Amino acid sequence: MKNCCRLNEISWDAFAAMDVMAKAPYLSQDGREYHVLVAQQFTRARLEALGTLATRIRRIAKEEDGMTFLRGLLNNHRAMLYFSQPSSRTFLSFCAACQILGMEIGEVRDTATSSEFKGESQEDSVRTFSSYFDLIIMRSQIGGLAERMAWLLSNTERPVPIINAGSGKDQHPTQALLDIYTLQRSFERRGSIDGKTIVFVGDLARGRTVRSLAWLLTNYRDMTLLFVAPKELQIGPDILAMLDAARVKYELMGDFRKAIPMGDAIYMTRIQDEWDSDAGESRRIDTSQYNFTVDHLRHLKPEAVIMHPFPRRQEIAVGVDDDPRAVYWRQMRNGMWVRTALIASIFGKDTLINDQKPWST
Ligand code: NCD
Repeated sequence: MKNCCRLNEISWDAFAAMDVMAKAPYLSQDGREYHVLVAQQFTRARLEALGTLATRIRRIAKEEDGMTFLRGLLNNHRAMLYFSQPSSRTFLSFCAACQILGMEIGEVRDTATSSEFKGESQEDSVRTFSSYFDLIIMRSQIGGLAERMAWLLSNTERPVPIINAGSGKDQHPTQALLDIYTLQRSFERRGSIDGKTIVFVGDLARGRTVRSLAWLLTNYRDMTLLFVAPKELQIGPDILAMLDAARVKYELMGDFRKAIPMGDAIYMTRIQDEWDSDAGESRRIDTSQYNFTVDHLRHLKPEAVIMHPFPRRQEIAVGVDDDPRAVYWRQMRNGMWVRTALIASIFGKDTLINDQKPWST
């Protein structure tokens, strides 16, 4: 069996029953992520290393010979993008990241066009992908599916890394990585992420980006997290228990206007009504006060940033886009760089990038 990570040392039942923190050591190889499944597997040191690598790649990519160098790094590898849930940014930024590193890509974006339509199991589909590709990047509405597939592949003759690009309502670890990279970049002139107040707004009950980012923020000191939402859409008790255990300060709030001047970052989210039942329960909730308007800019700290994982609807008025504190377009592009860094690191190319002479000053 090919060497992958320690997932082939444990039964699925034992792994599935583990606390999420205990799972982390099974997902890495040689001190780097192999499978990327949950936010909990990233330490602060890894977040810093990935941020530094992303910045380095960003600079190298500005030069023509730099791009040639990057494209040569993984041009003997192929990546499969298996997205059974809609996506624009995550899908395209992963495509771009693979292209930057010279990888060819394959895709299934609609299982009505694959053999799943004929009744093939997801297990057999993913095992099929691993026969042709060296990396599987997957998004699914089924929470925990990426984890199951990672275990499955790790116990075959052809293990390949799995990156979770969004699973159910639960986890979106690479979105959290790009959010952290955006915060690192936004605050670098004022120190670091430590000591900042992050305001989360919108559908916090079903937004997987908020859940993964809240976890990553426990890696920083003296943080304050403010969760601002109508009570039906407030953050889940499991996240609050995790923050309690990590001794992170937080407050649940209903009044968005009151929270705005307190934030160093305002993280807006959309109402995730695709999770509603046919009755459309979230459409009956009044969310009108949870929109960031041009008028709100006056109340925002001069150095604060406004973020959003996108897509947006009306949560941020288009008129806000021109304010220098609106960083969501940059945040989106950061996703391409940090995903490039992550893939390069999974395949052990990080040292080569960091050591590359012409761009090392
Ligand atoms: C998010 C997602 O799909 O979880 N988008 C993204 O990946 N950038 C959030 C959303 O769809 O609202």
